[in-house]
Amino acid sequence: MCGIVGYIGGNEAAPILIKGLKKLEYRGYDSAGIAVYGDSINVVKTKGRLADLDEKVQSLGGVKGTMGIGHTRWATHGAPSDVNSHPHTSMNGRITVVHNGIIENYIQLKAELEKNGYVFASETDTEVVAQLFDYYYNGDMVDTLIKVIERIRGSYALAVMCTEKTDEIVAVRKDSPMLIGLGEGENYIASDIPAVLEYTKNYYLLNDNEIVVLKKDSVKILDMNKNEIKKDVYNVTWDISAAEKGGYDYFMLKEIMEQPKAIKDTIHPRIADGTIKLDDVKYTDEDIKNINRIHIIACGSAYHAGIVGKYVIEDFARIPVEVDLASEFRYRNPILNKNDVCIIISQSGETADTLAALREAKRQGIRILSIVNVVGSSIARESDDVLYTWAGPEIAVATTKGYSTQVALMYLIGLKFGQVRGYISDERVSELIGELDKLPEYIEKLIDLEKDIKVMAKEHHNSNDVFIIGRGIDYAASLEGSLKLKEISYIHSEAYAAGELKHGTISLIEDGTLVVAVATQDNLYEKLVSNVKEVKARGAYVIAIAKEGNTEIGEVADKVIYIPHVDDKFTASLNAIPMQLFAYYVAIERGCDVDKPRNLAKSVTVE
Ligand code: AGP
Ligand code: GLU
Repeated sequence: MCGIVGYIGGNEAAPILIKGLKKLEYRGYDSAGIAVYGDSINVVKTKGRLADLDEKVQSLGGVKGTMGIGHTRWATHGAPSDVNSHPHTSMNGRITVVHNGIIENYIQLKAELEKNGYVFASETDTEVVAQLFDYYYNGDMVDTLIKVIERIRGSYALAVMCTEKTDEIVAVRKDSPMLIGLGEGENYIASDIPAVLEYTKNYYLLNDNEIVVLKKDSVKILDMNKNEIKKDVYNVTWDISAAEKGGYDYFMLKEIMEQPKAIKDTIHPRIADGTIKLDDVKYTDEDIKNINRIHIIACGSAYHAGIVGKYVIEDFARIPVEVDLASEFRYRNPILNKNDVCIIISQSGETADTLAALREAKRQGIRILSIVNVVGSSIARESDDVLYTWAGPEIAVATTKGYSTQVALMYLIGLKFGQVRGYISDERVSELIGELDKLPEYIEKLIDLEKDIKVMAKEHHNSNDVFIIGRGIDYAASLEGSLKLKEISYIHSEAYAAGELKHGTISLIEDGTLVVAVATQDNLYEKLVSNVKEVKARGAYVIAIAKEGNTEIGEVADKVIYIPHVDDKFTASLNAIPMQLFAYYVAIERGCDVDKPRNLAKSVTVE
């Protein structure tokens, strides 16, 4: 969950490293540091944000050198502090390392090294790599790195410099992301494309345990037997402005506003002449007819998109769907059968739990279809089929367009599978495609409610507990609305199946408790209204989300946010918008850092 960068070329490394880390700060921001090879390897690091590091570097009059590595941290082992910041150096100063991931066997390695006279400065797992590298160092960086890889267990994206090597950086990844940026007379290492996109659009995508020898005029990729691997060059199609704020105060607001386009870009290439074309996946009609069960596996908001998928796919295609949290699925010894399909959902394509769940399903011989936003990410590359959400880079920790495009693909899968399996007529599919076509325009309309929602956020930004309730797909939408509020405003919130309230949680409703009631499912509307009356009777303040033209709900709820009419199965795409905006403005009112909420990071590449 942290970000690493590396540079070797003809320019001063420090500014390039710091600029690159700023683009990766969404991946972790507990501390930051750089190591630049000038007269020797000079390390500058500090607890706090990139701005603090920048200030420290400036206060030193800059750090000279044209080769370096950098790191912005999300701490897993060792509290955020100066000494626990990366880069980490071996005791004798010879080896310097930055690392994204977890060295699971660091305790025993640390004990072994201490027995051999190594003295440790930090509490981190990462420092073991620097010391171990020094312990095995035989003058050859690749030989030494191979020995280190053979000893460490866990996940890693590592970049290593040695005082005896003034012209090379070695690197390797396993389970944590790493890209190699290819320049003219200069080359780069990065956890993610935005870090170096302004310098190059050409990259090597690395597989696990592929070793990189980075020099200013060459990049060599070797396997663990030191055989050179020929890699295709991956060319990025979007430009740096897509990864900039574009005048918005926060990336999150920009990305909320980008949802109409993101959904259009995700859906339109896949619908033509009233039919759905999932040509990017290799499923024959026969394959689709033979699917016995679908397991949707994901984390966080992607999991919520999976819940929406369950309702939609079961209803449209009559295939049983199980939705699992990846962190549970991977350890549950799941029962999978040969005609099952696993749908893996992940915006980043690098979430450690989700990647591990994918590998468990694959180990059992199950076909993997992944829904991913980052092209060429680990989950994408390890799947049998990938449906990309064409949302463009998503920088804010709290996903919005990533989630809504995942939901849009759930609709397409449900419709396609339902049509092939004969549960939905071609005419009905064509009608529903017409409904999907309206989503971007309807989302624009909901975004126009921004001012009203800002007022509501101001009124309720001091709430201690917020309950978000719904039935059916509205319940699935409530899960996502609640997470948005929690993760960026730090207000405790719970999403509840409205019918479940009376089985315990309603005891928490007091005078003035804020309840958001999502009421857009016609077949469940009356029941939902009863639940609203139940919480009102106990003093709740209710904001309802309902369909335009519903005059009755205003008699029951204190405030109503209206959404345009769309097929009930597709309302999750609309309900999300007011809840995203509400969470955003509550967080602003509370003075929170919306794009970089405390304790979080954008891509959870550690367990
Ligand atoms: C969403 O707002 C959160 N940042 C988080 O729950 C996220 O959805 C989760 O970590 C999964 O990330 P992924 O989609 O990149 O796998
Ligand atoms: N495990 C390392 C540390 O705690 C790296 C953490 C990360 O990848 O975010 O410093």
